Amino acid sequence: MSRVFIHGGTVVSATGSQLLDVLIDGETIAAVIQPGSTVLGADLAANADVVIDATGKYVIPGGVDAHTHMQLPFGGTEASDTFEIGTRAAAWGGTTTIVDFAVQKLGERVQDSLAAWHGKAAGQCAIDYGFHQIVGDVNAESLKGMAELVSEGVSSFKLFMAYPGVFYSDDGQILRAMQTAGDLGAVLMMHAENGIAIDVLIEQTLQRGDTAPYFHGTSRPWQLEEEATHRAIMLAQVTGAPLYVVHVSAKQALEQIAQARGNGQNVFGETCPQYLYLSLEEQLGAPGFEGAKWVCSTPLRARAEGHQDELWRYIRTGDVTSVATDHCPFCMKDQKELGIGDFSKIPNGIGGVEHRMDLMFQGVKDGRISLEKWVEVCCTTPARMFGMYPRKGVISPGADGDVVIYDPNGHTSIGVGKTHRMNMDHSAYEGFDIDGHVDTVLSRGRVIIDGGQYLGSTGHGRFVKRGLSQNLI
Ligand code: URP
Ligand code: ZN
Ligand code: ZN
Repeated sequence: MSRVFIHGGTVVSATGSQLLDVLIDGETIAAVIQPGSTVLGADLAANADVVIDATGKYVIPGGVDAHTHMQLPFGGTEASDTFEIGTRAAAWGGTTTIVDFAVQKLGERVQDSLAAWHGKAAGQCAIDYGFHQIVGDVNAESLKGMAELVSEGVSSFKLFMAYPGVFYSDDGQILRAMQTAGDLGAVLMMHAENGIAIDVLIEQTLQRGDTAPYFHGTSRPWQLEEEATHRAIMLAQVTGAPLYVVHVSAKQALEQIAQARGNGQNVFGETCPQYLYLSLEEQLGAPGFEGAKWVCSTPLRARAEGHQDELWRYIRTGDVTSVATDHCPFCMKDQKELGIGDFSKIPNGIGGVEHRMDLMFQGVKDGRISLEKWVEVCCTTPARMFGMYPRKGVISPGADGDVVIYDPNGHTSIGVGKTHRMNMDHSAYEGFDIDGHVDTVLSRGRVIIDGGQYLGSTGHGRFVKRGLSQNLI
């Protein structure tokens, strides 16, 4: 068991920042102490096996990305990052825990789909991981299975109001699943877009001959995100289930969430860096088929309509409670290309698990959020939201030794051939320059990134058996 001593840095939490030293003993944080103090009867630096000088740097909890899709079968292909490659990329970017999604297809048992996802991830991950369960076939058996899953550490369930014929649930199914989640104290996650109406718009758009990636965005208008979000909130209110609306991109949907929260309802908003930085006009509207790189759902929104600025504002107000990536990478070659001539056949998803901590730190540098808010939305609240706190998401005695040393004076150039460890032939953030850098990453007390080197190993990451949410009002 090794002892790691981190000294000289500013420890940042969701509530404040302070010059503090950190001692990790084995896999867990043993002490967080005033600089120079000697506790545990010894000179910590002298007795540590590893000493890290964090002078001038931030010492933050390892990032918790509560929305990823490694190896997801979707859109006629499979997300291009394996658990091995994707979790290694996450580590490079300062994320030490992911929560991925097991997928129940029509006709399957939820227990069997969870077992299949355990099979994909076990022994493969560089960092710790948990699972949410997608319930793609809400029926009496799946509803019973939800209770079993909660007891196995899978305490959140995602439903889809989008993708009819694939993952879609109708309002009756949603109501039943919410009743069950409410009874169990589990979180109901919702992909809130009116998929039935969207399918009509897609059909009409293609009939007009509008086949380019840009029209993926215009056939999923914000009104159909707002409407579905409102409906989900009302169904959650009737059932008492906690509702977590994933990948929100429309400011109007967030207004619905803010209102519900104002009324005291357990409703939470998640957004992703792509919705904060990228847009319908600039990315989806790129020439030719380029825009396919940014086809995801909910779609990127028009900058002219002010969604991006409003989303940043809703992070500040606390109505966006978490920032995740919805990491769902596909290569252009052979994957996104499936939709040449028909945008509806482009696999939906953007990869970004490697860049979330950096992109959100840029928000600190740009004066959009505070340092503490950065840690809150990227580390602490996701851990609390999904029943992993205080083991994850905080630097305090007893927590796992998941720590990132972040250099606010460093620099990160995002792009293929620069910082790109994901299995994608392009970067959604190509050319982005970040005024900060992930220097060192520890996962359960082990240094896995340092000095520009990966020091971790496949299989180091363990399944996190989660409890119930600690974030409810
Ligand atoms: O486009 C997306 N978001 N792909 C991943 C699946 C989902 O809906 O989260
Ligand atoms: Zn979704
Ligand atoms: Zn997703």
